[in-house]
Amino acid sequence: MDFSNIDVFPMDTKINSEGVLEVGGCDVLSLAKAHGTPLYLYDEKTIRSMAQTFVSEFTSRYPKTSVAYASKAFLNLAMAKIANEENLSLDVVSGGEIAVAQAAGFPSNKMYFHGNNKTPQELSEAIDLGVGTIVVDGFQELDILNNIAKSKNTKQGIMLRLSPSVDAHTHAHTTTGILDVKFGFSIETGESSIAIKQALDSSNLKLQGIHFHLGSPIFALEPYSTAIDTVFDYLKPFFKQGLDLKKFSPGGGFAIGYLQKQLPPSVGDYAEVITSMLKNKCDDLEIDYPELIIEPGRSIVGRAGVAIYTVGVTKVIPNVRTYVSLDGGMGDNIRPALYDAQYEAVAATKMSNTDFETVTLAGKYCETGDILVKDVSLPILDSGDLVAIPASGAYCIAMSSNYNMNPRPEIVMVSDGDSRIIRKRETYQDLMALDLS
Ligand SMILES: Cc1ncc(COP(=O)(O)O)c(C=O)c1O
Repeated sequence: MDFSNIDVFPMDTKINSEGVLEVGGCDVLSLAKAHGTPLYLYDEKTIRSMAQTFVSEFTSRYPKTSVAYASKAFLNLAMAKIANEENLSLDVVSGGEIAVAQAAGFPSNKMYFHGNNKTPQELSEAIDLGVGTIVVDGFQELDILNNIAKSKNTKQGIMLRLSPSVDAHTHAHTTTGILDVKFGFSIETGESSIAIKQALDSSNLKLQGIHFHLGSPIFALEPYSTAIDTVFDYLKPFFKQGLDLKKFSPGGGFAIGYLQKQLPPSVGDYAEVITSMLKNKCDDLEIDYPELIIEPGRSIVGRAGVAIYTVGVTKVIPNVRTYVSLDGGMGDNIRPALYDAQYEAVAATKMSNTDFETVTLAGKYCETGDILVKDVSLPILDSGDLVAIPASGAYCIAMSSNYNMNPRPEIVMVSDGDSRIIRKRETYQDLMALDLS
Protein backbone atom coordinates (compact mmCIF):
# COMPACT_ATOMS: atom_id res chain seq x y z
CA MET A 1 0.00 0.00 0.00
CA ASP A 2 1.34 3.42 -0.94
CA PHE A 3 0.75 5.85 1.88
CA SER A 4 1.68 8.99 0.01
CA ASN A 5 -1.99 9.56 -0.82
CA ILE A 6 -3.50 8.29 2.38
CA ASP A 7 -4.62 11.54 3.90
CA VAL A 8 -5.89 10.06 7.12
CA PHE A 9 -2.35 9.16 8.29
CA PRO A 10 0.45 11.57 9.23
CA MET A 11 2.41 12.94 6.25
CA ASP A 12 5.40 10.78 6.93
CA THR A 13 3.82 7.30 7.02
CA LYS A 14 5.30 4.25 5.27
CA ILE A 15 5.35 0.47 5.29
CA ASN A 16 8.78 -1.06 5.79
CA SER A 17 10.17 -4.18 4.18
CA GLU A 18 8.92 -6.29 7.13
CA GLY A 19 5.36 -5.17 6.49
CA VAL A 20 5.37 -2.94 9.58
CA LEU A 21 3.86 0.53 9.69
CA GLU A 22 6.33 3.41 10.06
CA VAL A 23 5.23 6.82 11.33
CA GLY A 24 7.63 9.77 11.32
CA GLY A 25 10.48 7.45 10.34
CA CYS A 26 9.91 5.16 13.37
CA ASP A 27 8.54 1.65 13.09
CA VAL A 28 5.58 1.14 15.36
CA LEU A 29 6.62 -2.36 16.44
CA SER A 30 9.84 -1.04 17.98
CA LEU A 31 7.95 1.85 19.57
CA ALA A 32 5.34 -0.53 21.01
CA LYS A 33 8.10 -2.74 22.43
CA ALA A 34 9.84 0.24 24.00
CA HIS A 35 6.78 2.07 25.32
CA GLY A 36 3.99 -0.51 25.60
CA THR A 37 0.45 -0.06 24.30
CA PRO A 38 -1.97 1.61 24.04
CA LEU A 39 0.40 4.18 22.69
CA TYR A 40 -0.35 7.53 21.07
CA LEU A 41 2.11 8.73 18.44
CA TYR A 42 2.21 12.32 17.20
CA ASP A 43 4.17 13.22 14.10
CA GLU A 44 5.77 16.59 14.78
CA LYS A 45 6.24 17.41 11.11
CA THR A 46 2.51 17.01 10.44
CA ILE A 47 1.58 19.28 13.36
CA ARG A 48 4.04 21.98 12.29
CA SER A 49 3.11 21.65 8.64
CA MET A 50 -0.61 22.05 9.41
CA ALA A 51 0.11 25.12 11.55
CA GLN A 52 2.21 26.61 8.75
CA THR A 53 -0.43 25.77 6.15
CA PHE A 54 -3.13 27.59 8.12
CA VAL A 55 -0.88 30.61 8.54
CA SER A 56 0.16 30.77 4.89
CA GLU A 57 -3.23 29.97 3.32
CA PHE A 58 -4.96 32.63 5.39
CA THR A 59 -2.30 35.36 5.50
CA SER A 60 -1.65 35.11 1.76
CA ARG A 61 -5.30 36.05 1.25
CA TYR A 62 -5.82 38.20 4.32
CA PRO A 63 -2.57 39.43 5.91
CA LYS A 64 -4.23 40.48 9.18
CA THR A 65 -4.94 36.87 10.24
CA SER A 66 -3.99 35.28 13.55
CA VAL A 67 -4.21 31.50 13.84
CA ALA A 68 -5.26 30.59 17.38
CA TYR A 69 -4.74 26.89 18.03
CA ALA A 70 -7.80 25.53 19.88
CA SER A 71 -5.92 23.75 22.61
CA LYS A 72 -8.92 21.71 23.73
CA ALA A 73 -8.14 19.37 20.81
CA PHE A 74 -4.88 18.29 22.49
CA LEU A 75 -2.73 20.13 24.98
CA ASN A 76 0.33 19.33 27.00
CA LEU A 77 3.63 21.10 27.57
CA ALA A 78 5.20 19.89 24.31
CA MET A 79 2.17 20.87 22.25
CA ALA A 80 1.95 24.34 23.80
CA LYS A 81 5.64 24.83 23.06
CA ILE A 82 5.16 23.85 19.41
CA ALA A 83 2.18 26.21 19.07
CA ASN A 84 4.33 29.02 20.46
CA GLU A 85 7.30 28.19 18.23
CA GLU A 86 4.96 28.28 15.23
CA ASN A 87 3.85 31.76 16.35
CA LEU A 88 0.26 30.75 16.86
CA SER A 89 -2.15 32.34 19.29
CA LEU A 90 -4.10 30.06 21.62
CA ASP A 91 -7.78 29.36 22.24
CA VAL A 92 -8.16 28.20 25.86
CA VAL A 93 -11.28 27.17 27.76
CA SER A 94 -10.26 26.69 31.37
CA GLY A 95 -7.88 27.80 34.07
CA GLY A 96 -6.16 24.45 33.58
CA GLU A 97 -5.47 25.03 29.89
CA ILE A 98 -4.14 28.49 30.71
CA ALA A 99 -1.88 27.01 33.41
CA VAL A 100 -0.41 24.34 31.10
CA ALA A 101 0.18 26.85 28.32
CA GLN A 102 1.77 29.32 30.73
CA ALA A 103 4.04 26.65 32.16
CA ALA A 104 5.24 25.97 28.60
CA GLY A 105 6.08 29.66 28.20
CA PHE A 106 3.11 30.54 26.01
CA PRO A 107 2.48 34.32 26.21
CA SER A 108 -0.85 35.04 27.89
CA ASN A 109 -1.52 38.13 25.80
CA LYS A 110 -1.92 35.79 22.78
CA MET A 111 -4.62 33.74 24.52
CA TYR A 112 -8.36 33.84 23.78
CA PHE A 113 -10.29 32.59 26.80
CA HIS A 114 -13.57 30.90 25.84
CA GLY A 115 -16.26 29.01 27.72
CA ASN A 116 -19.95 29.25 28.58
CA ASN A 117 -19.40 29.11 32.34
CA LYS A 118 -16.01 30.48 33.28
CA THR A 119 -15.85 30.70 37.04
CA PRO A 120 -15.23 34.05 38.77
CA GLN A 121 -11.93 32.56 39.96
CA GLU A 122 -10.90 31.66 36.41
CA LEU A 123 -11.85 35.14 35.19
CA SER A 124 -9.90 36.79 37.99
CA GLU A 125 -6.84 34.60 37.33
CA ALA A 126 -7.07 35.34 33.61
CA ILE A 127 -7.01 39.09 34.24
CA ASP A 128 -4.08 38.72 36.66
CA LEU A 129 -2.15 36.66 34.12
CA GLY A 130 -2.75 39.19 31.36
CA VAL A 131 -4.87 37.00 29.08
CA GLY A 132 -5.29 39.18 25.99
CA THR A 133 -8.92 38.53 25.14
CA ILE A 134 -11.78 37.00 27.08
CA VAL A 135 -14.55 35.83 24.76
CA VAL A 136 -17.69 36.59 26.75
CA ASP A 137 -20.51 34.09 26.38
CA GLY A 138 -23.40 35.42 28.51
CA PHE A 139 -24.89 38.36 30.44
CA GLN A 140 -23.82 37.22 33.89
CA GLU A 141 -20.27 36.87 32.67
CA LEU A 142 -20.36 40.42 31.29
CA ASP A 143 -21.39 41.71 34.72
CA ILE A 144 -19.01 39.56 36.71
CA LEU A 145 -16.04 40.29 34.47
CA ASN A 146 -16.69 44.03 34.49
CA ASN A 147 -16.87 44.00 38.30
CA ILE A 148 -13.70 41.95 38.65
CA ALA A 149 -11.84 44.21 36.21
CA LYS A 150 -13.13 47.26 38.13
CA SER A 151 -11.92 45.83 41.44
CA LYS A 152 -8.48 45.38 39.88
CA ASN A 153 -8.60 48.86 38.39
CA THR A 154 -7.99 47.58 34.87
CA LYS A 155 -9.74 47.42 31.50
CA GLN A 156 -10.04 43.90 30.05
CA GLY A 157 -10.16 43.21 26.31
CA ILE A 158 -13.18 41.13 25.31
CA MET A 159 -14.96 39.74 22.30
CA LEU A 160 -18.61 38.70 22.34
CA ARG A 161 -19.58 35.24 21.19
CA LEU A 162 -22.72 35.44 19.09
CA SER A 163 -24.89 32.59 17.94
CA PRO A 164 -26.00 33.34 14.38
CA SER A 165 -28.59 30.52 13.99
CA VAL A 166 -26.63 28.90 11.18
CA ASP A 167 -26.62 25.10 11.14
CA ALA A 168 -23.24 23.63 10.20
CA HIS A 169 -24.75 20.12 9.93
CA THR A 170 -22.36 18.43 12.31
CA HIS A 171 -23.30 15.80 14.92
CA ALA A 172 -25.97 17.29 17.24
CA HIS A 173 -23.51 17.22 20.14
CA THR A 174 -21.04 19.43 18.29
CA THR A 175 -23.33 21.95 16.58
CA THR A 176 -22.87 25.26 18.35
CA GLY A 177 -24.14 28.11 16.15
CA ILE A 178 -27.90 27.41 16.22
CA LEU A 179 -30.60 28.87 18.47
CA ASP A 180 -31.02 25.98 20.90
CA VAL A 181 -27.47 25.72 22.31
CA LYS A 182 -25.88 26.77 25.56
CA PHE A 183 -23.23 28.94 23.88
CA GLY A 184 -23.26 32.62 23.02
CA PHE A 185 -25.68 35.50 22.63
CA SER A 186 -28.40 34.67 20.14
CA ILE A 187 -28.92 37.06 17.25
CA GLU A 188 -32.36 35.55 16.61
CA THR A 189 -33.75 36.36 20.06
CA GLY A 190 -32.25 39.85 20.11
CA GLU A 191 -30.08 39.20 23.14
CA SER A 192 -26.89 39.87 21.18
CA SER A 193 -28.07 43.46 20.57
CA ILE A 194 -28.48 43.99 24.31
CA ALA A 195 -25.09 42.37 24.90
CA ILE A 196 -23.28 44.65 22.43
CA LYS A 197 -24.81 47.75 24.03
CA GLN A 198 -23.97 46.48 27.52
CA ALA A 199 -20.40 45.67 26.50
CA LEU A 200 -19.92 49.12 24.97
CA ASP A 201 -21.25 50.68 28.19
CA SER A 202 -19.13 48.55 30.53
CA SER A 203 -16.63 50.82 32.23
CA ASN A 204 -13.88 48.20 32.59
CA LEU A 205 -14.29 46.17 29.43
CA LYS A 206 -12.92 47.02 26.02
CA LEU A 207 -15.02 45.43 23.27
CA GLN A 208 -12.47 44.35 20.65
CA GLY A 209 -14.74 42.38 18.39
CA ILE A 210 -17.21 39.64 17.56
CA HIS A 211 -16.86 35.87 17.54
CA PHE A 212 -18.92 32.87 16.55
CA HIS A 213 -18.20 29.17 16.26
CA LEU A 214 -20.56 26.99 14.27
CA GLY A 215 -19.55 23.47 15.28
CA SER A 216 -17.09 20.77 14.38
CA PRO A 217 -16.08 19.09 12.16
CA ILE A 218 -17.62 21.16 9.34
CA PHE A 219 -17.16 19.45 5.98
CA ALA A 220 -19.11 22.08 4.02
CA LEU A 221 -17.82 25.56 3.17
CA GLU A 222 -21.16 27.31 2.84
CA PRO A 223 -21.99 27.57 6.59
CA TYR A 224 -18.95 29.84 7.04
CA SER A 225 -19.96 32.22 4.25
CA THR A 226 -23.63 32.22 5.29
CA ALA A 227 -22.72 32.97 8.89
CA ILE A 228 -20.28 35.78 8.03
CA ASP A 229 -22.88 37.29 5.70
CA THR A 230 -25.57 37.04 8.40
CA VAL A 231 -23.43 38.43 11.20
CA PHE A 232 -22.10 41.43 9.25
CA ASP A 233 -25.57 42.34 7.98
CA TYR A 234 -26.77 42.14 11.54
CA LEU A 235 -23.88 44.30 12.82
CA LYS A 236 -24.45 47.08 10.28
CA PRO A 237 -26.40 49.44 12.61
CA PHE A 238 -23.89 48.91 15.41
CA PHE A 239 -21.02 50.23 13.33
CA LYS A 240 -22.94 53.51 13.19
CA GLN A 241 -23.40 53.38 16.96
CA GLY A 242 -19.70 53.16 17.73
CA LEU A 243 -18.82 49.50 17.39
CA ASP A 244 -15.19 49.53 16.29
CA LEU A 245 -14.58 46.01 15.01
CA LYS A 246 -10.89 45.46 15.67
CA LYS A 247 -11.17 41.67 15.70
CA PHE A 248 -13.48 39.16 14.08
CA SER A 249 -13.51 35.39 14.50
CA PRO A 250 -15.55 32.72 12.70
CA GLY A 251 -14.14 30.14 15.16
CA GLY A 252 -12.72 26.79 14.13
CA GLY A 253 -14.38 23.55 13.11
CA PHE A 254 -12.28 22.76 10.02
CA ALA A 255 -12.69 19.09 9.20
CA ILE A 256 -10.05 16.39 8.78
CA GLY A 257 -10.16 13.06 6.99
CA TYR A 258 -11.20 10.27 9.34
CA LEU A 259 -12.26 8.00 6.48
CA GLN A 260 -10.48 7.78 3.18
CA LYS A 261 -13.86 8.06 1.42
CA GLN A 262 -14.80 11.30 3.22
CA LEU A 263 -11.99 13.81 2.89
CA PRO A 264 -12.45 17.47 3.87
CA PRO A 265 -11.99 20.62 1.79
CA SER A 266 -8.41 21.91 1.74
CA VAL A 267 -7.28 24.61 4.16
CA GLY A 268 -7.05 26.89 1.11
CA ASP A 269 -10.73 26.23 0.34
CA TYR A 270 -11.76 27.25 3.84
CA ALA A 271 -9.45 30.28 3.68
CA GLU A 272 -10.86 31.40 0.35
CA VAL A 273 -14.48 31.26 1.46
CA ILE A 274 -13.88 32.97 4.79
CA THR A 275 -11.55 35.73 3.64
CA SER A 276 -13.43 36.58 0.44
CA MET A 277 -16.76 36.89 2.26
CA LEU A 278 -15.13 38.92 5.03
CA LYS A 279 -13.50 41.33 2.57
CA ASN A 280 -16.75 41.68 0.59
CA LYS A 281 -18.76 42.51 3.67
CA CYS A 282 -16.21 45.04 4.96
CA ASP A 283 -16.02 46.70 1.53
CA ASP A 284 -19.84 46.86 1.27
CA LEU A 285 -20.19 48.30 4.75
CA GLU A 286 -17.20 50.61 4.27
CA ILE A 287 -15.45 49.53 7.45
CA ASP A 288 -11.76 48.78 8.01
CA TYR A 289 -10.67 45.17 7.72
CA PRO A 290 -10.57 43.71 11.25
CA GLU A 291 -7.93 41.28 12.45
CA LEU A 292 -9.24 37.82 11.53
CA ILE A 293 -8.80 35.17 14.20
CA ILE A 294 -9.31 31.58 13.18
CA GLU A 295 -9.36 28.81 15.74
CA PRO A 296 -8.38 25.45 14.25
CA GLY A 297 -7.96 22.65 16.78
CA ARG A 298 -8.74 19.28 15.21
CA SER A 299 -7.21 20.27 11.89
CA ILE A 300 -3.82 21.11 13.46
CA VAL A 301 -3.34 17.89 15.45
CA GLY A 302 -5.93 15.35 14.26
CA ARG A 303 -4.03 13.87 11.35
CA ALA A 304 -0.74 13.93 13.24
CA GLY A 305 -1.93 11.39 15.83
CA VAL A 306 -1.99 7.60 15.50
CA ALA A 307 -3.22 5.30 18.26
CA ILE A 308 -1.43 1.94 18.55
CA TYR A 309 -3.13 -0.98 20.31
CA THR A 310 -2.27 -4.62 20.93
CA VAL A 311 -4.76 -7.30 19.93
CA GLY A 312 -5.99 -9.45 22.81
CA VAL A 313 -8.87 -11.91 22.59
CA THR A 314 -11.23 -12.65 19.70
CA LYS A 315 -14.87 -13.65 20.02
CA VAL A 316 -16.58 -15.14 16.98
CA ILE A 317 -20.39 -15.13 16.89
CA PRO A 318 -21.15 -17.27 13.84
CA ASN A 319 -23.13 -15.43 11.18
CA VAL A 320 -23.29 -12.34 13.39
CA ARG A 321 -19.94 -10.67 14.07
CA THR A 322 -16.31 -11.23 15.04
CA TYR A 323 -15.11 -9.07 17.89
CA VAL A 324 -11.37 -8.46 18.17
CA SER A 325 -10.58 -6.81 21.49
CA LEU A 326 -7.81 -4.24 21.88
CA ASP A 327 -6.00 -3.08 25.01
CA GLY A 328 -7.46 0.44 24.87
CA GLY A 329 -10.87 1.77 23.92
CA MET A 330 -13.33 4.37 25.18
CA GLY A 331 -10.99 5.46 27.98
CA ASP A 332 -8.51 6.86 25.45
CA ASN A 333 -10.96 7.49 22.59
CA ILE A 334 -14.54 8.25 23.60
CA ARG A 335 -15.47 9.67 20.19
CA PRO A 336 -17.05 6.55 18.64
CA ALA A 337 -19.24 6.06 21.74
CA LEU A 338 -20.04 9.77 22.11
CA TYR A 339 -20.48 10.92 18.52
CA ASP A 340 -20.71 7.70 16.47
CA ALA A 341 -17.34 8.77 15.11
CA GLN A 342 -15.89 6.47 12.46
CA TYR A 343 -12.25 5.61 11.90
CA GLU A 344 -10.04 3.63 9.56
CA ALA A 345 -7.83 0.93 11.09
CA VAL A 346 -4.83 -1.05 9.86
CA ALA A 347 -3.00 -4.14 11.10
CA ALA A 348 0.23 -2.30 11.85
CA THR A 349 2.42 -5.41 11.98
CA LYS A 350 0.77 -7.18 9.03
CA MET A 351 0.65 -4.42 6.46
CA SER A 352 1.66 -6.74 3.62
CA ASN A 353 -0.69 -9.61 4.48
CA THR A 354 -3.43 -10.34 2.02
CA ASP A 355 -5.78 -12.68 3.96
CA PHE A 356 -8.55 -10.36 5.04
CA GLU A 357 -11.60 -10.81 7.25
CA THR A 358 -14.24 -8.40 8.53
CA VAL A 359 -13.99 -7.74 12.25
CA THR A 360 -15.22 -5.26 14.81
CA LEU A 361 -12.52 -3.68 16.95
CA ALA A 362 -13.71 -3.55 20.53
CA GLY A 363 -12.08 -1.89 23.51
CA LYS A 364 -11.38 -3.41 26.92
CA TYR A 365 -13.86 -1.30 28.91
CA CYS A 366 -16.96 -2.68 30.59
CA GLU A 367 -19.48 -1.17 28.20
CA THR A 368 -21.18 -2.78 25.21
CA GLY A 369 -20.77 0.55 23.43
CA ASP A 370 -17.00 0.40 23.78
CA ILE A 371 -16.38 -0.23 20.09
CA LEU A 372 -13.61 1.62 18.28
CA VAL A 373 -14.24 0.53 14.68
CA LYS A 374 -17.23 -1.49 13.51
CA ASP A 375 -17.04 -4.03 10.67
CA VAL A 376 -13.67 -3.23 9.20
CA SER A 377 -11.81 -5.45 6.74
CA LEU A 378 -8.35 -6.30 8.12
CA PRO A 379 -5.70 -8.98 7.73
CA ILE A 380 -6.52 -11.89 10.07
CA LEU A 381 -5.46 -10.70 13.49
CA ASP A 382 -3.85 -12.82 16.20
CA SER A 383 -3.28 -12.02 19.81
CA GLY A 384 -0.18 -9.81 20.09
CA ASP A 385 -0.58 -8.14 16.69
CA LEU A 386 -0.67 -4.37 16.61
CA VAL A 387 -3.55 -2.31 15.28
CA ALA A 388 -3.14 1.35 14.35
CA ILE A 389 -6.01 3.83 14.23
CA PRO A 390 -5.14 7.02 12.35
CA ALA A 391 -6.57 10.53 12.75
CA SER A 392 -6.44 10.07 16.52
CA GLY A 393 -4.64 13.29 17.38
CA ALA A 394 -7.65 15.42 18.33
CA TYR A 395 -10.20 14.99 21.11
CA CYS A 396 -8.98 11.47 22.01
CA ILE A 397 -6.27 11.96 24.64
CA ALA A 398 -7.88 15.33 25.40
CA MET A 399 -11.14 13.60 26.40
CA SER A 400 -9.52 10.52 27.93
CA SER A 401 -10.46 9.15 31.32
CA ASN A 402 -9.41 6.60 33.91
CA TYR A 403 -12.67 4.67 33.52
CA ASN A 404 -12.34 1.16 34.96
CA MET A 405 -9.15 2.48 36.59
CA ASN A 406 -7.12 2.06 33.45
CA PRO A 407 -3.98 4.20 33.36
CA ARG A 408 -3.87 6.63 30.44
CA PRO A 409 -1.54 5.84 27.51
CA GLU A 410 1.97 7.09 26.95
CA ILE A 411 2.39 9.72 24.23
CA VAL A 412 5.43 9.74 21.99
CA MET A 413 6.40 12.48 19.53
CA VAL A 414 8.05 11.14 16.38
CA SER A 415 9.95 13.07 13.78
CA ASP A 416 12.41 12.06 11.06
CA GLY A 417 13.29 8.77 12.73
CA ASP A 418 13.61 10.24 16.24
CA SER A 419 11.15 9.66 19.05
CA ARG A 420 10.67 11.20 22.47
CA ILE A 421 8.13 10.72 25.24
CA ILE A 422 5.97 13.81 25.70
CA ARG A 423 3.71 12.28 28.31
CA LYS A 424 4.52 9.26 30.45
CA ARG A 425 2.18 6.32 30.79
CA GLU A 426 0.15 6.65 33.97
CA THR A 427 0.88 4.10 36.69
CA TYR A 428 -1.43 2.44 39.20
CA GLN A 429 0.16 4.77 41.75
CA ASP A 430 -0.98 7.77 39.69
CA LEU A 431 -4.53 6.44 39.90
CA MET A 432 -4.52 6.89 43.68
CA ALA A 433 -2.14 9.84 43.93
CA LEU A 434 -4.88 12.26 45.01
CA ASP A 435 -6.94 9.82 47.10
CA LEU A 436 -7.22 10.04 50.87
CA SER A 437 -8.50 7.00 52.71
C1 LIG B 1 -14.95 28.44 20.28
C2 LIG B 1 -14.27 27.31 19.63
N1 LIG B 1 -13.27 27.56 18.77
C3 LIG B 1 -12.60 26.56 18.16
C4 LIG B 1 -12.93 25.24 18.40
C5 LIG B 1 -12.11 24.19 17.73
O1 LIG B 1 -12.82 23.40 16.87
P1 LIG B 1 -12.00 22.41 15.93
O2 LIG B 1 -11.15 21.58 16.81
O3 LIG B 1 -13.01 21.61 15.24
O4 LIG B 1 -11.23 23.27 15.00
C6 LIG B 1 -13.97 24.93 19.27
C7 LIG B 1 -14.34 23.53 19.51
O5 LIG B 1 -15.15 23.17 20.28
C8 LIG B 1 -14.66 25.99 19.92
O6 LIG B 1 -15.64 25.76 20.77
